Amino acid sequence: MWFQRMELEDWFDTYQYKIEYDIGESAVKTLGVGDLDIDLNAILLRYGYHKGRPDLRDIIAQFYPGFSPEHIIVTTGASEANFVIAASLVKPGDHVIVEHPNYPSNYEVPRSLGCDVDLFTLRFENEFRPLANDLEAKITPQTKLISLTHPNNPTGSKISREELQKIIDIVESKDIYIIFDETYSDMDFINPLPPAATLSPKVISISSLSKSYGLPGLRTGWLATKDQDVLNTALAVREQISIANNALSEEIATRVLTEKDRYVDMAKQRIHKNRDIVADWINQQENFEWVYPEAGVVGFPRIKNHVAVEPEKLYRLLAEKYKTFVVPGRCFEMEPKHFRLGFGGESEKIKIGLNNLNKALAELVSY
Ligand SMILES: Cc1ncc(COP(=O)(O)O)c(C=O)c1O
Repeated sequence: MWFQRMELEDWFDTYQYKIEYDIGESAVKTLGVGDLDIDLNAILLRYGYHKGRPDLRDIIAQFYPGFSPEHIIVTTGASEANFVIAASLVKPGDHVIVEHPNYPSNYEVPRSLGCDVDLFTLRFENEFRPLANDLEAKITPQTKLISLTHPNNPTGSKISREELQKIIDIVESKDIYIIFDETYSDMDFINPLPPAATLSPKVISISSLSKSYGLPGLRTGWLATKDQDVLNTALAVREQISIANNALSEEIATRVLTEKDRYVDMAKQRIHKNRDIVADWINQQENFEWVYPEAGVVGFPRIKNHVAVEPEKLYRLLAEKYKTFVVPGRCFEMEPKHFRLGFGGESEKIKIGLNNLNKALAELVSY
């Protein structure tokens, strides 16, 4: 078994504190403790409940019709949930199918655990939407886990309810689980999908407060499933990693999720306004094209083929000279001409960032 750094996290670590115009991030504008008006003085800094605070699990369970707090484990972000589930369900040599592009951890974790990871690549030409038939063709007798992320990062695409049901029907007759990463589901405002774990005990949903709530520094997420064996093993794994959650984060998460609708509404206003800004900009571009992101807070445009530019040079010039941040396609093991645009930040800064993208391209391109 071995672990390697993700190019995405290396890129973030290099530039995220050096730039001014962030048009690559995948969260709505980050909140500070002062924005939340929460008094933390009474919080005891003792070890917490290993599955997470009961009142917090109770609130989260209500997002999953038919679920109770015993079906929820609160984790250190969706990242820990992803790790815990993979470590619970797969062994070295198992075949794992992971939707791609995706948050890289979703394939790096099973790779690191020694699995045979098969990327299930979404195509620009198909609006980055997965089809059950294509996925089924990848299943082998060794397949143990399928990993899907919708709304998708980095493309903003959404699996249709019908295709999701077809995939669930396929796994229910086999010894295969689905990990469904719903980290962006609170930013799915038009015909949102039902939480996938409520559709089958073979599905484990994972989610987080990082993106829709602008609280990535809280490091709080969760997993939800009705499969008792998975819950037991997941708890064993999480106890090996972190024992329990950060007490301060659990208090903040409880207070924020008590007012979920208010926060989601703030995200909605921001996303609608900013996505329009980016869509208007891209419609005027001769050199870039994208698939309109149906949900979430990111899109995955590409530099058109006729543009004679080295993409990596563009992204670095943008970061280093124009203090503007996008995420290169290579960070998602996709063609370099793709890059992730994030529109969760302040509108004025997004406009400047997009303008900087034009300026940086003009500086490099040879017609
Ligand atoms: C799809 C997806 N899952 C999980 C994560 C990790 O989120 P967290 O901050 O909750 O660990 C990310 C972060 O970018 C993501 O995009």
